[in-house]
Amino acid sequence: MLTVGNIIPLFLKKINNYSDKELISIAYIVIEEILGLNKINVIINNANVISTNDEVKINEIIKDLIANKPIQYILGKANFFNLSFIVNKHVLIPRQETEQLINWILNYEFNSVLDIGTGSACIPISLAKNSTANITAIDISSNAIKIAKKNADNYNLNITFLCEDIFKFNPDSKFDLIVSNPPYVLESEMKKMHKNVLNFEPHNALFVEDSDPLIFYNYIAQFAFKYLNSKGALFFEINESFGVEIKLILNKLDFVNIELKKDLNGKDRMIKAIKK
Ligand SMILES: C[S@@+](CC[C@H](N)C(=O)[O-])C[C@H]1O[C@@H](n2cnc3c(N)ncnc32)[C@H](O)[C@@H]1O
Repeated sequence: MLTVGNIIPLFLKKINNYSDKELISIAYIVIEEILGLNKINVIINNANVISTNDEVKINEIIKDLIANKPIQYILGKANFFNLSFIVNKHVLIPRQETEQLINWILNYEFNSVLDIGTGSACIPISLAKNSTANITAIDISSNAIKIAKKNADNYNLNITFLCEDIFKFNPDSKFDLIVSNPPYVLESEMKKMHKNVLNFEPHNALFVEDSDPLIFYNYIAQFAFKYLNSKGALFFEINESFGVEIKLILNKLDFVNIELKKDLNGKDRMIKAIKK
């Protein structure tokens, strides 16, 4: 028999691949999801015995967490920019750094947007909720596009999703703003990564070959130069190791007002450039 008050101690006892602080916050998310209880109600209902059915669900979740499956994939959803997104193994779990990129973009004015490598559609949906722009989003993965469309439908948003490879994509109009968080982790960086990323998140969303780490930046910068309106803006999320190199690529193409910005951990994480 498991009581509400025993759930957090059970997490702490059984799971040891997370810190106690992380586990407690994951346990609260699970309790809210399975039992519908927020933190205060956990205290109030401390002594209540949970149903066998819910106990089975909680034990399944504990097993998945021990196997390093991210909680977002276990529950099938992730929070981003105060919105809830359906996620599965075909899309990257949206990250905090990308929220910072959205905040930066929202300082600008734009009527049309293209998001390249949209994944869960966290970028276009956050922009659509905070602007009236026409938004197009592409991804090479048809499975990602399915999730992206479901997420936009959940918020009744009219975003154009296209299953396209950026290296072959020829849009029929120009944009005021182009944004991309393309794959940027080097294959050689795999070793350093936590198992919950490496074993569960889609590798085609994360990795680029060490021999050509800037392949997406080189191509998308040229693409943007061609498909941005005059005074249009290009925003990238970047690998912290390549800020200077990406700045150079943009400089060479005659972009102006190029600005590098750090994430909350003080690492070069995003860059903006304006087409003259
Ligand atoms: C780092 S993820 C970003 C996902 C999402 N935009 C986010 O910020 O969470 C990169 C995305 O680019 C997509 N992608 C990879 N290669 C691509 C290509 N050649 N053309 C278009 N999209 C591509 C992947 O499928 C993946 O969804």
